[in-house]
Amino acid sequence: MKLLVTGGAGFIGSNFIHYWLKNHPEDSIINLDSLTYAGNLENLAALKDNPHYRFIKGSITDPKIVEQAIQGVDWVVHFAAETHVDRSILGPAVFIETNVLGTQVLLDAAVKAQVKRFHHISTDEVFGALKLGDNKKFDEQTPYNPRSPYSASKAASDHLVRAYAETFGLPITISNCSNNYGPYQFPEKLIPLAITNLLEGKKVPVYGDGLYVRDWLYVQDHCRAIDVILQKGTVGETYCVGGMAKDVSNLEIIKAILNGLKKDESAIEYVKDRPGHDRRYAVDFSKITQELGWKPAFDFEHGIKATIDWYMKNKSWWAHIKSGEYKNYYAKQYGRK
Ligand code: NAD
Ligand code: TYD
Repeated sequence: MKLLVTGGAGFIGSNFIHYWLKNHPEDSIINLDSLTYAGNLENLAALKDNPHYRFIKGSITDPKIVEQAIQGVDWVVHFAAETHVDRSILGPAVFIETNVLGTQVLLDAAVKAQVKRFHHISTDEVFGALKLGDNKKFDEQTPYNPRSPYSASKAASDHLVRAYAETFGLPITISNCSNNYGPYQFPEKLIPLAITNLLEGKKVPVYGDGLYVRDWLYVQDHCRAIDVILQKGTVGETYCVGGMAKDVSNLEIIKAILNGLKKDESAIEYVKDRPGHDRRYAVDFSKITQELGWKPAFDFEHGIKATIDWYMKNKSWWAHIKSGEYKNYYAKQYGRK
């Protein structure tokens, strides 16, 4: 089997490539990535000499490169995207360009190349926000109600993927997954930002009252969910993927990290809230459990411990990132160094 992975130099994409080549060593992977600020080939350094892996530097918005990259491919696994909500508030245009137009370019090429599967990686954020204290969860029937430029661009890409299935007969599947965490996550997202700030002796910025709720999933469990969807999923179907049995607030997440690093709550700093901040996400993943037999293998306690350990052991990976363009972003977003 030959796979085209887009965005494979990012957080989930690079974890997926490692996962796939470990579990399916007979397959080959082409990784198409334009290496934005979030793309990092260091994540894949161990595969440099693997004959089953090839990297192509290029954008999914470039039809020529995409057409070359997709030659002879059986399955497309589409991760490439702009992914950070705060950056989508600072500058929405690139989110539309990559997430919407880029997906359309990729879909056109996939139809032409007659790929056997186009799997689109999406997010639970397309469903909007749930209320605190409510026991409602997102599932495959939840109407779309995106509330940030990021989630609106992902929602648009989901609609396009379904439209190409209906109009052009493209064999698609979609997964809408909750917040991932784990190795190689860019330290702009809450968990790696908190861990690395604390390791540097800095404070952790908490937006608003800190009582926002996300559904957290260890990245390896997400990779396994994509695997089962590719192997056993029904063409045309969508699967919601999540990891939590109960609500946990951002403050509780940060306290778990403080605890893991033996720090106290004086390292918490309340900062200005994100505009339009979605209050609560929770995912009902019973469809993928019942139909495909997937459930998370890591609970939060074990996942966060593995993640803290990874960031402690890989300081050079994140210190390198934090010394570059990241500094300008941090100053703009948080108003300080
Ligand atoms: P990331 O920001 O870490 O990585 C994105 C990757 O895409 C980078 O390597 C970047 O260089 C590449 N890229 C960006 N624009 C590109 C373009 N025009 N052409 C080619 N490559 C391009 O993102 P991530 O957290 O790994 O997320 C991957 C996917 O999973 C995204 O589609 C995202 O919406 C989805 N998702 C993420 C989460 C999460 O918690 N991180 C949860 C659910 C779904
Ligand atoms: P984030 O990791 O950006 O993911 P998303 O917004 O896509 O869910 O944020 C997770 C939660 O943490 C969200 O409620 C915003 C909050 N947050 C903070 O409180 N402080 C921060 O510095 C960041 C980056 C996020």
